[in-house]
Amino acid sequence: MRYAVLGTGIVGRTIATRLLSLGHDVVIGTRDPEATLARGDYAEWQAAQPQAGLVGFAEAARQGETLINATGGQVSIAALNEADAEHLDGKILIDIANPLDFSHGFPPVLDPVDSDSLGELIQRTFPGLRVVKTLNTMNCQVMVDPARVPGDHTVFLSGEDADAKKAVRELLDSFGWGERTIIDLGGIETARGTEMLLPIWLRLMGALGHADFNFHIQGAVRTQ
Ligand SMILES: NC(=O)c1ccc[n+]([C@@H]2O[C@H](COP(=O)([O-])OP(=O)(O)OC[C@H]3O[C@@H](n4cnc5c(N)ncnc54)[C@H](OP(=O)(O)O)[C@@H]3O)[C@@H](O)[C@H]2O)c1
Repeated sequence: MRYAVLGTGIVGRTIATRLLSLGHDVVIGTRDPEATLARGDYAEWQAAQPQAGLVGFAEAARQGETLINATGGQVSIAALNEADAEHLDGKILIDIANPLDFSHGFPPVLDPVDSDSLGELIQRTFPGLRVVKTLNTMNCQVMVDPARVPGDHTVFLSGEDADAKKAVRELLDSFGWGERTIIDLGGIETARGTEMLLPIWLRLMGALGHADFNFHIQGAVRTQ
């Protein structure tokens, strides 16, 4: 599978490394490839992963069969606008971003929140995309290596397209998420709930002093 990872931060690079290790083709999307390559953190990663392509958002979206949104939540719509709707139609977008607004300092606020979510905003803005919100409720190292956290723990799925969610389940399985650790919450509207876990997640990280933890929903057995 050829994945386009939109985002050059720690999340995009961590996901891309894992996809490459699983034998997938990966192209990374950014605003300005030259400027990104001049960034020390990115250049170091690229030197270790020479097989990953680095191109503009539009070219990445054109090349990718499945897309991953690892851009800042406040700028995801701008990044996807750059990616160009014609390259998005019919494709799965795995949305990992959280709409955290740090403009007033820490703790950040969520925007949108309560009656809307970034997942829904992306789905509404780009109706041709098949948005699946997942993995946004944990640190990126845990996303790709759930065994970092002992015992069972949980990853959530939200999205409208059953086939897209099935494909994302298969990817999660290849990352090490067992079937019983995945909870499908329903449609993309349920992304409101998982995005709103971020305030408590950030406080937990502060209290525990590390990020190798995750939510575990006990009794997660379907009764309907
Ligand atoms: N850190 C974690 O473990 C973790 C866990 C769960 C979810 N998340 C979420 O994952 C996402 C990525 O986090 P991150 O820390 O890796 O990266 P980030 O710093 O939040 O975002 C970096 C990306 O956003 C793009 N960007 C910035 N301003 C832009 C603009 N005006 N227009 C278009 N694109 C713009 C950057 O483009 P350039 O490449 O051009 O600079 C870059 O690719 C965030 O939404 C975060 O909330 C993070």
